[in-house]
Amino acid sequence: MYFGGDYNPEQWPEDVWHDDVALMRRARVNLVTIGVFSWSSIQPAPGRWEFGRLDRVFDLLHANGIAINLATPTASPPPWFGRRHPDTLTVTADGTRLSHGSRDTYCVSAPAYREASKELASVLAERYGGHPALAMWHVHNEYGTRCHCDHVARAFRAWLRARHGDLATLNERWTTAFWSQGYSDWDEIEPPRATQWLPNPSQLLDFRRFLSDEMLAHYVEQRDLLRPTGKPVTTNFAFGAWVPVDHWKWAREVDLVAVDDYPTGDLAEESAFTADLARSWAGGKPWILMEQAAAVEYTPRRTLPRPPGDLARTTLIHVERGSIGAMFFQWRASRGGAEQWFHGMVPHAGPDTRTFREITALGETLAALPTPAARTPEVAIVWDDEAWWALQGRGLPSQDLDYLEAVKQPHRLLYRAGHHVAFVHPEHDFSPYRLVIVPSLLPVTGTALANLAAHRGAVLMSYFSAVTDEHLRVRLGGRLPAFGITIKEHRPLAAPLTLSDGAEASLWSEEIALDGAEAVVSYPDGTPALTRFGKAWYLSTRLADKAYENLLTCLLRPTYCPTGTYEER
Ligand code: GAL
Repeated sequence: MYFGGDYNPEQWPEDVWHDDVALMRRARVNLVTIGVFSWSSIQPAPGRWEFGRLDRVFDLLHANGIAINLATPTASPPPWFGRRHPDTLTVTADGTRLSHGSRDTYCVSAPAYREASKELASVLAERYGGHPALAMWHVHNEYGTRCHCDHVARAFRAWLRARHGDLATLNERWTTAFWSQGYSDWDEIEPPRATQWLPNPSQLLDFRRFLSDEMLAHYVEQRDLLRPTGKPVTTNFAFGAWVPVDHWKWAREVDLVAVDDYPTGDLAEESAFTADLARSWAGGKPWILMEQAAAVEYTPRRTLPRPPGDLARTTLIHVERGSIGAMFFQWRASRGGAEQWFHGMVPHAGPDTRTFREITALGETLAALPTPAARTPEVAIVWDDEAWWALQGRGLPSQDLDYLEAVKQPHRLLYRAGHHVAFVHPEHDFSPYRLVIVPSLLPVTGTALANLAAHRGAVLMSYFSAVTDEHLRVRLGGRLPAFGITIKEHRPLAAPLTLSDGAEASLWSEEIALDGAEAVVSYPDGTPALTRFGKAWYLSTRLADKAYENLLTCLLRPTYCPTGTYEER
């Protein structure tokens, strides 16, 4: 079991390093991630490499039995790099070229940045690839920066050509006949930059897909230079609406899935959510919690320490779900710099603090912990980054649709009931699961629809699902044969209402015509709200937690169905 965190010794004088390793030993730290933001210290000027400090860090850690997860520092190009290659600085959608001054100010499509990234990976592989302290490689940090510059425009066009083949097909798939957007030359196509009003949703979705592939290519270039060292290569997945990363696709390219977990709501429920996603993305291979914080509520308004006992609680949630480590950002709280108020495993006040005592106790707990027995989930929830991106669009029938919440709701209810939950891609094999939940999956491929229809276990699909194809074109007719229903109309709700079984429903409703399914619960006007067609259930509204919990209990343990509701039908 790995235990440790991001370690940034370049921020500290060397005498602090000796203190650090002594404290690491006390806390039973056995792995640290170094180098994430070290570009300017190892290459302070073009062509000038300075490895003395990093060499000494390697040797010191090794002498103390602490293994190293070495990062390539490509997430934070130094000031000289942007000055020398201004075309590598990020351009926002409104055309502003960002300046150096923060971090992550790069463009993955800029040739000079790609070349520099490869050079960094090769130089580090050569210098440290054989070092006995090296345990794994950490490429970059939390991929996610979106750029809209001309390099990106060129790469986007090449990607679109490969995906759609010819312009006629692209025009058809993007429905460019609407608002006179028909393209007659590939060079007319731009990344979705600032525009007058609503953008084209298909273009937006393809841009997200493109960014994911483009960043993945940047990762793969580095990975392939690092792999000959024989050590596993990974990158830490960030999780947020801003992240254009298709996690299922990326998970196939990393040697072990690594996730960062920065919960903002209920810490335990959100950690379980992240951990269940990570385990599912890893698909049976090892995965690791690469970053979590000793702080909660790191917002512009406040930064709070975690409540007592919380570090251990969320860490164990990850470990129970198969993480092979518990890592933090960061080891020692920074003295200055942009994140100086972000908490560390060693706080500003030093080791004689509650946080460090909890860290030390956690190190002991993890060292003594037997490997938790793997559990096989019986419930799966469909997770699809593309559906999340699609529901972030504008011009939808309701701006209150929230993909993440639609997925999190059943997850947290199942977590509270003690379940470990699997996440699945819409085209995965569903056969291991008794119940597959499909929340608000707006775009679906034909393959995914067939996959759903073929599942022999129970399926619970919820509102605004399977409404469009993968290009966001509406599937006309509204028929859902696998569910024995046709959706005639979408009717977002302005206020909650009470269903026939007394449950509270909100956000959304639909007019459903029954084509073989039966109505299980109805709207106040008597039309179906929840339907059932054999094992295929369809929920056309958002249920309050209590009612959703009853439904899940009923689907998993029919003997517990409340009398007079689902089971009697
Ligand atoms: C993470 C990031 C770290 C650090 C941390 C705290 O998302 O990877 O480098 O910035 O957040 O904000």
